[in-house]
Amino acid sequence: MSEDRLPLLRRITRKEHAAIAFTLDGAPCEGRAGDTLLSAILSRSDSLRRTEFSGEPRAGFCQMGACQDCWVMTETGERLRACTTPLQPGMRIVTMTGKAA
Ligand code: FES
Repeated sequence: MSEDRLPLLRRITRKEHAAIAFTLDGAPCEGRAGDTLLSAILSRSDSLRRTEFSGEPRAGFCQMGACQDCWVMTETGERLRACTTPLQPGMRIVTMTGKAA
């Protein structure tokens, strides 16, 4: 994911909630208590992942656990649905094309 593009989401709530540290493709990141993985990732990135079929950027679609468009993985290979997974401290997330640190 490009660092020079603006994040897809702009945080308007939970700005004062406790910070939660995690890594995304090996880079240190920070979300807020109450974030899902999807909201935490898209608050710092312009896409959630790249599709394994065409390489096009994806950002989830339904935001409610139905469309399967928001899968990400942990560095240990566990698949997580980003829109329904609460952000937890120390999560080490990789995108479909990302490389674990
Ligand atoms: S955005 Fe549809 S399942 Fe997550």
